[in-house]
Amino acid sequence: MTTKINFNGVISENLSISFYDHGFLFGDSVYEVVATHKNRPCFLYPHLQRLHNSADGISLNIPWSTDRFAEELQRTLQEAGNPESYIRIIVTRGEGAVDIDPSSCTQPNVIIYVSAEKKYPAELYMSGVNLAVVSVKRNARDALNPGIKTGNYLNNILAVVEANRMGAHDAVMLNANGDLAESTTSNLFFAHNGTLFTPALGCGILAGITRSMVMQLAQENGISVEEGSLPVEALISADEVFITGTIKRVMPVTRIDNKIVGEGRPGPLSQKMMRLYGDVLESEIPYDPAFKLQF
Ligand code: PDD
Repeated sequence: MTTKINFNGVISENLSISFYDHGFLFGDSVYEVVATHKNRPCFLYPHLQRLHNSADGISLNIPWSTDRFAEELQRTLQEAGNPESYIRIIVTRGEGAVDIDPSSCTQPNVIIYVSAEKKYPAELYMSGVNLAVVSVKRNARDALNPGIKTGNYLNNILAVVEANRMGAHDAVMLNANGDLAESTTSNLFFAHNGTLFTPALGCGILAGITRSMVMQLAQENGISVEEGSLPVEALISADEVFITGTIKRVMPVTRIDNKIVGEGRPGPLSQKMMRLYGDVLESEIPYDPAFKLQF
């Protein structure tokens, strides 16, 4: 199992980043996490689309084309030679003055990190995870839009620290209105009487690629999905809850604030979505460049 890091097109095993890189100094960067299936990147095009959207959101010019990303990623995956990989693509503002003003940074740095695959323990998919509703609110859209996946994750770090202190695996974050937003690195879904509910993008969340795929799969399989501004009480009284993300895939939630959700085990809709999403990863769909993400 090896780790390889591609830094502006040069691949090595280690990387030291300059102290003067604004990604290091201020979290002034954007990133994506991509999983593989049969060591091919899943949903690469939507991830690159979201990377560009994030870069636009912070007025950062990404120096590589989509084709260049695909080629460099392929080369890095090959050099790492793992059966499956964890991929992190980062574009930083680059080196500049020790001052938040980015105008001194002339050359963004592009990094592709490839390591052995990261997987959650199989038991968690059977037992479900425990979430805590935390007091730390998700950033407001007109402050630091959660739709921009920046390297500044302090908002989510504060939330996960609070959740851990409460003995939970992860946090449920609310927005400034007190409505449901998302978890710290995943999107939220819950089921009531056979309908799936998920916070709308307007609630201030990341437009998750797994979320989009799960919504599409649910609709194709006759399960209705409603997006909206949703109160925390609806989550706590739900029949089933699950969270979605690139590494977690579809992860059932069986306790919130130490109260049991539904019957206390992954319910039929959660299991169905886990299976349908797993089937998609096995199929050719993850590589279809036509899959378009809504922001
Ligand atoms: N996180 N919300 C937040 C805040 C996230 O950071 C992520 C992803 C998601 C789910 O998005 P997707 O389904 O596209 O992975 C939702 C990645 C996995 C991470 O930062 O590790």
